[in-house]
Amino acid sequence: MNYKRLTNFYDVLPILPDKPEDSWKQSVKWRAVEETFRETCRRFGYREIRTPMLEETALFTRSVGEATDIVSKEMYSFLDKGEHAVTLKPEGTAPVVRACIENGLFATNPVLKLYYQSQHFRYEHGQKGRYRQHQQLGAEVFGSADPAIDAEVILLAMEFYRQVGITEQTLKVNSLGISESRAIYREKLKEFVRPFLGKMSKEAQNRFEINPLRLLDTKDENEIELLADAPKLLDSVDAESRAHFDTLLSYLDTAGVPYVIDHRLVRGFDYYTRTTFEIVSDNLGAQNALGGGGRYDQLVEQCGGLPLPGIGFGLGTERLLLVLDALGIMPELADERPTAFVVTLGNAAVTRPAAVKILQELRQAGIASDMDYRPGSKFGAQAKRADDLGARYLVILGEDEIAKGTAGLRNQATKEQKEIALTELTQTLLSL
Ligand code: HAM
Repeated sequence: MNYKRLTNFYDVLPILPDKPEDSWKQSVKWRAVEETFRETCRRFGYREIRTPMLEETALFTRSVGEATDIVSKEMYSFLDKGEHAVTLKPEGTAPVVRACIENGLFATNPVLKLYYQSQHFRYEHGQKGRYRQHQQLGAEVFGSADPAIDAEVILLAMEFYRQVGITEQTLKVNSLGISESRAIYREKLKEFVRPFLGKMSKEAQNRFEINPLRLLDTKDENEIELLADAPKLLDSVDAESRAHFDTLLSYLDTAGVPYVIDHRLVRGFDYYTRTTFEIVSDNLGAQNALGGGGRYDQLVEQCGGLPLPGIGFGLGTERLLLVLDALGIMPELADERPTAFVVTLGNAAVTRPAAVKILQELRQAGIASDMDYRPGSKFGAQAKRADDLGARYLVILGEDEIAKGTAGLRNQATKEQKEIALTELTQTLLSL
């Protein structure tokens, strides 16, 4: 039986995959960007939160919204063995809100700044940059409606991209206003669209009925043209939201971060209020969003907490790595080669236990070290294994050396070899 990965899933591998277009699947690249994200979050004062993969289904249907694509078409939902309706998390914000309420986190900080790195599951249909399991690097802030925090959240995302070497991305911003102003806009938009609704796709006609704002989110050229003169959301938002948005823009100007106002940026979640933003790249094809986010001032209350404003983002790791590959940018990769490789010569009953002991000492001292675990492997084969792994030093253990309490230490680059007392091996390797 040959088992295969499920459609639209992928493996992250310790080797460089054969196909160049798969090079983003190398695990060391993942760790590089994840570590950069952690470090950027640390600098901005964000602390890590982790939530479970499974949540009650109702958490998502209520917060993300029944009419959204995610809830209506894409969730991995099932009844568990206790007949509870559960869902693999399709996004990270609602679980974070649930966790903060349940663990009393909001009481610990007037402004709570959190980050996460998490897997999400959506039953997507195969396109480049769309997977059924994807990872987001996310941040959420609770307790402040100040536009300065909207700016900070955006600047955190932009600084992270700058740190990994991406600078050509476009920041798109918009404001959705509050639910009352959005209701007014929804009617204006429907009125505008009604005369040519028949010329639009089935999907658009469906959106017209259940989620008209999402009409603006179309990727269909014909529909984009039909909507070119549609009323603008920003012209309908309430005065307070408009002032909030203008202040945010002034902060972005102050920080020297360029942006474009995108009147069609509505995002696919019901929980957003006011600020929405997306960071897009020309190097991604149709699925061009590297990341996105926005403000959600009603979500905490909706999930059973006290009224508390919030804002955050999720940045797709796969898409980021795809862009890095497209631009030929190599993140700074961790060195995965062993410093020392222990090879044994002669009677295995003597040399192998000595090798196990030396490896233990070296590793406890923080020296990356390894040996050849193929039983009966000849010296040459062991040395080749060391070369294949890129080891910098060979530690050669023969019976005679062990009897004298020494080992051979060979520099693999210069091939110079010297004899060294076993008691000095760790210190010597640490000092090299
Ligand atoms: P989202 O826009 O659905 O937002 O996802 C954020 C990012 O995750 C996207 O811009 C994209 O880079 C990546 N992404 C989403 N779906 C996929 C997929 N199927 N395959 C690969 N990458 C994908 C959210 O999920 C919100 N929770 C973000 C947020 C946090 N808003 C406020 N706080």
